[in-house]
Amino acid sequence: MAGLIPKSFIHDLIERADVVELVDSRVPLKKAGRNYQACCPFHNEKSPSFTVAPDKQFYHCFGCGEHGNALDFLMKFDGLEFPEAVEELAHMLGLEVPRETSSNPAADARKRAQESSDYEQMELAAKFFAHQLRQHSNSTRVIEYLKGRGLSGEIVKQFQIGYAPDGWDSLLSSLGKDQRSKDQLVALKLVNRNDQGRYYDFFRDRVMFPIRDRRGRVVGFGGRILEGDGPKYLNSPETRIFHKGRELYGFYEARQANRELQQVVIVEGYMDVVALAQAGISYAVASLGTATTTEQLQMLFRATRKVVCCYDGDRAGRDAAWRALENALPLLNDGIELSFLFLPDGEDPDTLVRKEGASAFTERLNQAQSFTDYFFAHLTETIDVQSDAGKSLLLKQAKPLIERVASEFYRDTLMERLARLLRRETSQLASQIKAPTAAKAPQDGLKMTPMRRAIGLLVQHPYLGQEIPLHHELRGLKQPGIELLLKLHEQTQAQALTSAQLLELWRGEPEEKALRQLARWQHHLETDRVNQEFFDIFAYFIDQFVEQRANELLEKERTAPLNRTEKQEYLTLLQYLKDREKR
Ligand code: GTP
Ligand code: MN
Repeated sequence: MAGLIPKSFIHDLIERADVVELVDSRVPLKKAGRNYQACCPFHNEKSPSFTVAPDKQFYHCFGCGEHGNALDFLMKFDGLEFPEAVEELAHMLGLEVPRETSSNPAADARKRAQESSDYEQMELAAKFFAHQLRQHSNSTRVIEYLKGRGLSGEIVKQFQIGYAPDGWDSLLSSLGKDQRSKDQLVALKLVNRNDQGRYYDFFRDRVMFPIRDRRGRVVGFGGRILEGDGPKYLNSPETRIFHKGRELYGFYEARQANRELQQVVIVEGYMDVVALAQAGISYAVASLGTATTTEQLQMLFRATRKVVCCYDGDRAGRDAAWRALENALPLLNDGIELSFLFLPDGEDPDTLVRKEGASAFTERLNQAQSFTDYFFAHLTETIDVQSDAGKSLLLKQAKPLIERVASEFYRDTLMERLARLLRRETSQLASQIKAPTAAKAPQDGLKMTPMRRAIGLLVQHPYLGQEIPLHHELRGLKQPGIELLLKLHEQTQAQALTSAQLLELWRGEPEEKALRQLARWQHHLETDRVNQEFFDIFAYFIDQFVEQRANELLEKERTAPLNRTEKQEYLTLLQYLKDREKR
């Protein structure tokens, strides 16, 4: 929906926001000279190279190259899309995001309307199912079922658990009023359409669990059968608003229930999440019938430092745990804790917490196997580490995994343990196991031509634009980048901007990448040298232009005599060049 939020609003937003305050609310900062510092939240490091500049309203990590303004930070740190980041920042500042029409307002409006109507429709469906739980003729049976599973009315309400009636068109006749809404219900996979073109409800005679995204919007459902034939659970397939690898059942509810999440438990089932919440353990989430993805883990580690993966002790549970471990490797940061809990045979968190109570269950959580213990327990399960063959196999299997671990601390711990198991010195292993290749630093040998220097200075110190007059005539200068420089000059002369605001004007433009790169260039100039350097480069461009123009006229004269004005111009140019010699 690009172009829908007026640029002027984004401009004001950046103006009002304080990137230092914003970053500090998520990553505590320390003052260091004019700037603020912290260990970079986007890569692993022991000494801080993440810097936030209040004057530029810009952050930059010298280690990994991450950089940007308040909106970039929200996008990266909170995992938001651009319009979401705008919404979020506006919300923090108590502003309403206005919308404007764009180059294709009709298409944009359609898409926006469709999206918001998708969420609305899902919310209506959740309300419909919740209503049926109380209203439908099967109501007693369903409520008895839920009671039988130990759920209170309160928790049913909190998770908005509902009932999809047993007819073929209950939801359809309630929400599918016209063809458009029928098509929408099909797109949202709430309704199916058969080969004969007949529509019917996807979920029938099931207990319904609405799945909410991190912003609390209903994006899908899980439906449990009450009795009889058919799959025990039916889950919404992926739709244009539902991506399973990205959502976690219960995450929104957990965040609502806890001001701060001390820890999160990943369990396997909807009922486990709800039963744990019922018992007072309101920080469980479930991945949606798939292995826990890196994206899901990242979402969790943004909200908490401690994650316990809690799985059945059976084969499927162990496989799921190991896959979660593999997906977590690149995320393991210093200070993060990941552990594993396997439940006794035939139990799941739901049955266990009801049998033993919440405190016994939390005790199990506290006793969970540490990441390192589980790592080696799993690998040595089928390997005899006493034999030489076993040792070499262990090294072979552990090596690629350890090499994916981001954190130095975790890598060291794993290496020490591995060395002990192999009866070797850690130092011997160090040469064989590499650290992950650090993200490429931004000083990537960009050749700093005068044009790039001028643009870089202007981007980093936009006030420079007001220090010299505009030189429209330079548009004719045959130098790549001159158009960009002049445009930037116009922008910075028209109004006082911070770097963050200036860059925001170029978001999504082809020049954006280059500008961002130049915004990070370290010019090493003292503050009082910056102006002079900028003036000098401009003077140089003017000289260049004069020479170029003089040559053009000279060239022209070879084929046809110059007219009066051209002659006059040529003389002026020559005079200028002569004066320059004297300077
Ligand atoms: P209850 O029997 O209600 O306690 O369910 P559970 O949460 O213990 O379910 P189980 O451990 O059998 O399965 C865990 C998760 O796997 C469920 O929450 C579902 O997401 C998924 N699942 C289970 N059965 C099915 C099924 O038949 N089809 C699909 N698609 N997913 C299922
Ligand atoms: Mn269960």
